[in-house]
Amino acid sequence: MKILLVGGGGREHVIAEAVARSTRNPELYAVMSRKNPGIARLCKDFLIANEDVESVLPYAELKKIDFAVIGPEAPLGRSLADKLEEKGIPCLGPRCAPAQIELDKAWARTFMRRHNIEGCPAFEVFDRGETASAHAAIDELGDVAIKPTGLTGGKGVKVMGDHFDLEGAKEYVSELLDTGSVVIEENLKGEEFTVQAFSDGETLAFAPAVQDHKRAYDGDKGPNTGGMGSYSDAGDLLPFMRGEDYEAAKRIMQDTVRSIKKDVGAYKGILYGQFMLTATGIKVIEFNARFGDPEAMNVIPLLKTDFVDILSAIADESLSNLNVEFERLATVCKYAVPAGYPESPTKDSIVDIDDAGTGNALIFYSSVYEKDGQVYTTGSRAIAVVGIAPTIAEAEKIASAGLSGIRGDLHVRSDIGTAALVDQRVRHAASLRGL
Ligand code: AMP
Ligand code: GLY
Repeated sequence: MKILLVGGGGREHVIAEAVARSTRNPELYAVMSRKNPGIARLCKDFLIANEDVESVLPYAELKKIDFAVIGPEAPLGRSLADKLEEKGIPCLGPRCAPAQIELDKAWARTFMRRHNIEGCPAFEVFDRGETASAHAAIDELGDVAIKPTGLTGGKGVKVMGDHFDLEGAKEYVSELLDTGSVVIEENLKGEEFTVQAFSDGETLAFAPAVQDHKRAYDGDKGPNTGGMGSYSDAGDLLPFMRGEDYEAAKRIMQDTVRSIKKDVGAYKGILYGQFMLTATGIKVIEFNARFGDPEAMNVIPLLKTDFVDILSAIADESLSNLNVEFERLATVCKYAVPAGYPESPTKDSIVDIDDAGTGNALIFYSSVYEKDGQVYTTGSRAIAVVGIAPTIAEAEKIASAGLSGIRGDLHVRSDIGTAALVDQRVRHAASLRGL
């Protein structure tokens, strides 16, 4: 079986490792925008090119690819899965229409409302120019999150309190409504967690819950980032969760996949649900149509089931016949990022990895590139270090120790996975439950 991986970040490196671990002897190919050394060394062949239709399609045909794994979301919006499937190549990664669950936040919310999917916060959608009614909605909802619906050239989700006050929210909405549409929704307060699942369009195979850390510095200080690191516990739940929280997340994701099939066709790929545990139950923050980065690094290394068997089961819609299992171990992932990230990161600076110094930690290359045998930063998250052990505390020690083998002008959050931070999450969740 020839498998093509699209994408060249940390998420794709951990996927590449899962393919390489398969006992089905798959051949791995990749299309990536820069040479990720971790992926490159696992591939039979790779192409450095745009991770998009115009380069992926001819390469997949040339190499007679049997199955494609699409790491990032952007190519999904340009119908990469549709086009590959039209050529007879099944994909892990949904077609363009079902991928709207991530790509169009207005579509995602109205879809949830239409199908009565639980956990949908109060929201309203406004189109270009509807500024006065949008301002009235902000006054009515009071505390809001504001989400541009489409591609926004760097302007993203902004949340009151974090980014602005009521007046600032109105200014941001006015700015967005000059050119596009916007979702204004209830600002959800609570503890965030992520659940990821494989989907064959009907059946979901769920991974353990993970918690990411978006802020750049220790103690959840500083600007938001792509995610500085994440942890999971030995089993499906995080320490602050109850079984019913995970069950609610699963139910919501299952309903979502069934309803998407009815509306726009089968959702084949990864469904990533981001949830908020609130004082009034589990709410959906958003869905993504791909693995999370770093959350992929927590769950994929734990897969006991052969990754290639999962891909086959998705292709022929037989996931219900496959028991997808994960090791019952805790994981802690910490990202080494360029100094100054995310605001003024050092770019093109050398990263040295001393394999002997990384101990038992797993190392995944993310936004780095290799040139003449040397690894350099790009300005985005550079190297993910993962510890796996029976407890979160032990996994944290392995990840921290592993970081001492990574050298460069880099920054790490030291608190992720520590008992102090995990306890704080547990106390916060207890207070949300009124305990
Ligand atoms: P992004 O990954 O850019 O879509 O940003 C998503 C982030 O915005 C999430 O991780 C949440 O922290 C935050 N967010 C999104 N929607 C809400 C909401 N309704 N209430 C509170 N925070 C939200
Ligand atoms: N870690 C958040 C994401 O991948 O969207």
